[in-house]
Amino acid sequence: MSERSIEVVDDAGVVRLTITRPKALNALNSAVLTELEGVLTELEARDDLRAVLITGAGDKSFVAGADIAEMREKTPEEARAFASQALRTIKRLETLPVPVVALVNGFCLGGGCELALACDWAVASDNAVFGQPEVLLGVIPGFGGTQRLPRRVGPAMALDLCTTGRKIDAQEALRIGLVNRVMPQAELETYADELAQQLGGNGPQAVRAAKQAIHDGMDQDLDSALALETALFAFCFAGDEQSEGMSAFVEKRKPHF
Ligand code: HXC
Repeated sequence: MSERSIEVVDDAGVVRLTITRPKALNALNSAVLTELEGVLTELEARDDLRAVLITGAGDKSFVAGADIAEMREKTPEEARAFASQALRTIKRLETLPVPVVALVNGFCLGGGCELALACDWAVASDNAVFGQPEVLLGVIPGFGGTQRLPRRVGPAMALDLCTTGRKIDAQEALRIGLVNRVMPQAELETYADELAQQLGGNGPQAVRAAKQAIHDGMDQDLDSALALETALFAFCFAGDEQSEGMSAFVEKRKPHF
């Protein structure tokens, strides 16, 4: 049995995934992608899932990209199969029904940046480095970067990054909206704990509804999307959560979700 490259830690439905390939700065090869897809299949089946936090092992790298050594010899057909596998896996991460947050703790390049882009939001340590350096290797992003990056930071900045291959630091990533927050690396773990508490403590049905409203609404015209919001808002009143949340407020106590 080969070594596992995805560490999974479950704290009452808040699942932390750590990509662990220290020899290659956590670069993603086919084996890691297959393992990640297996983990996601298990997570998709869980009704008690509340949030997913994803990071890279160590203090140097989140994910340094797709594995260049593995890609080097690929034929166009093999490259297509590899990109398709990665796209499918990353899409499954993106469409988990709960918030998925990237904790970017170092190099976040190529496929690593594309993985972070598929997360609902990203938080970076101050030593994080971002980029889509594929053109330096004679290729373009293949894990969704040419599509998700412009949707996150706008087409001009996406073109800048994807055609120059330049790397940017965490502060620039914050300025362009690639990440939501930057903090010293030593604080990332504490932040992850706080986030796990927050996301794990909120009404799980409401949290899922919020993600669904935003994700599905973004693909629709405004009126349809507003109708979706109304439907999901009403749906929140169908379970126990709304009555518990509002009763707790009126009774001046903490809700138990
Ligand atoms: C395979 C990688 C790797 C990668 C690093 N390593 N990145 N192996 N694939 N993407 C390996 C190195 O070969 C080296 O192995 C070890 O990790 C440590 O890396 P160093 O280069 O020695 O570290 P450092 O000098 O600190 O430089 C760090 C770095 C650099 C700036 C991140 O490693 C780098 O530029 N990596 C490539 C980044 C990149 O171009 N990513 C995009 C890939 S293309 P040894 O055995 O020598 O110790 C992509 C396309 C996605 O992601 C779409 C595909 C369909």
